[in-house]
Amino acid sequence: MCGIVCYLGSERKTAYLIDKLKRLEYRGYDSAGYSSLIKNAFYTQKVVGKLENLEKLIKNDEKSTCLISHTRWATHGECNKINAHPHLSKNNFWAVVHNGIIENYINIKKELKDEPQSTTDTAVVAEFLEERNPKSLEEFVDVFKEIKGSYALVALSKNEENTMYFAKNKSPMFIGVSGEDFMIASDPICFSGFAKEYIIVEDGEFGIIKNKKILILNSEKIQIKKQIQKLEIEFENSSKAGYPHFMLKEIMEEAGALENQVNTFLSRKILKPFSKSFIDEFDRIVFVGCGTAYHAGLMGTHYVKEILQKNADAYISSEFLCEKDTFLDKKALYIFISQSGETADTLLALEKVKKLKIPTIALTNVMYSTISRRADYVLPTCAGKEIAVASTKAYICQLSAIYMFCKNAKYEYFDEKNACYFEINNISKKINNFDREKIKNLANLISTKQECVFIGKALDYVTSLECSLKLKEVSYINSCAYPSGELKHGYLAMITKETPLFAFATNEKFNLKTISSAEEALARGAMVFVITSSKEFANSNQNVIYIDEQNSLLSPLLASSVMQYLAYNVSINKNLNPDMPRNLAKSVTVE
Ligand code: F6R
Repeated sequence: MCGIVCYLGSERKTAYLIDKLKRLEYRGYDSAGYSSLIKNAFYTQKVVGKLENLEKLIKNDEKSTCLISHTRWATHGECNKINAHPHLSKNNFWAVVHNGIIENYINIKKELKDEPQSTTDTAVVAEFLEERNPKSLEEFVDVFKEIKGSYALVALSKNEENTMYFAKNKSPMFIGVSGEDFMIASDPICFSGFAKEYIIVEDGEFGIIKNKKILILNSEKIQIKKQIQKLEIEFENSSKAGYPHFMLKEIMEEAGALENQVNTFLSRKILKPFSKSFIDEFDRIVFVGCGTAYHAGLMGTHYVKEILQKNADAYISSEFLCEKDTFLDKKALYIFISQSGETADTLLALEKVKKLKIPTIALTNVMYSTISRRADYVLPTCAGKEIAVASTKAYICQLSAIYMFCKNAKYEYFDEKNACYFEINNISKKINNFDREKIKNLANLISTKQECVFIGKALDYVTSLECSLKLKEVSYINSCAYPSGELKHGYLAMITKETPLFAFATNEKFNLKTISSAEEALARGAMVFVITSSKEFANSNQNVIYIDEQNSLLSPLLASSVMQYLAYNVSINKNLNPDMPRNLAKSVTVE
């Protein structure tokens, strides 16, 4: 998703500032640009593609005291140079960068005297600012009374040197403060090495940086006193550490991430607030998330039912938003899962529950994220920075965190006495330990196929959903996931001898049934591969991938990891970039 880095202060090298923008690359983008305000004129560069292309346009000695820069992930308007940000108004009076969506841009456009050059929603705001031409923060707030939607927006007026306006609603925005130097960014990670303190800009806040001071007003034009936060985030070295891609690096980091998860939970007694008596207050546990995070929630429902013997449900965030408030269960505990902690649909779902004063937990990988800040409790996943768009190690940590959450609530031991810590440590020893050559050979075969199907029962069905999503994302091979028992109720019609079918059988209770469903596909010519923890099948056939874990609640961690490695290798075979799948972004900050 779009990222912004803006700077106002003493002279800095433009390249230094664009380097900060590089820290937002993990969000995914397809074009980039910047504008410097120099002697009442904008100096602007835009490119399609990577920041390296933008860097090539910066001259060695180029410096800036006032700069706005942006990485764009196209939503309204195709990806091209004109649609890249910053957007300048017709007479170059205003320059704007924006993350979010201006929902009423068509109505505003109708009011404009001049048609903006670009068809994007943001270009309309630049033009609108030129026509309204606010000369103070109060007037800037008035302009925004007419703008609806989500925005982290920074604007410069060519007539106001050393001045920066900003507005925030729903999209993340932070201001790093280093003496008399200021940086506005979508993620405080940009401030590491620049500032030791920062401010969190909240929804409905509007501000100006001028005369080396920040002034922030709410929509009623009342001044807001902001708390200064200490920057405790170190920019982790996001090098690939010798791996060709982040996705592979992150899969190979799963063992370490799980150890970290256990150590953090133990040393900080993270699960202590979620004791049995706390959980007993609720009739039901409801998980909400998108994509892979939703799948973690679905898996969570099985953990809750199995370990806590409690009712549980999982919702896709955007679907949850369609539910009438009257159907929200006031006796349920809601857990919002999000790697980034910024996903707009999940954030809105959280707000919907908060409005009814129902307790909320955020299960996130980014402690300073909006979802972490808004929820009543935070349960951290300790995966470390995940850069590749497709989620891998974060998913594994989400499952382990929910598992330990349930086990702690059940057995009330928040230290080593609780067996779950040992169990997860044990998984960490097995997780990166599989026959890579075998999976690579399988990847060679799958790479030539048009489609794939994944089947399983109960937890294995959830694994099927997640593995199918991962394969689609990074290989563009169409795939679907079916509950094993459902295959014969429709999908069998699609099976040909060209169809690879992956059957997950990691739960003794259901293995034979899933194998029977796989047999039905085999009888119709499908190429069947079985991923199983059953020793009985282990060496029976070369198309069997053995998962060395008898606890059926934890075998999905191992099965998912192997299949992530498969998806990665299919992507490589097809000459694709698994780190940045087409059309996808990492932190989806728009609905
Ligand atoms: C899949 C993937 C996405 C995310 C989804 C939610 O590999 O990465 O499906 O899981 O966009 O993102 P977060 O977890 O950041 O809320």
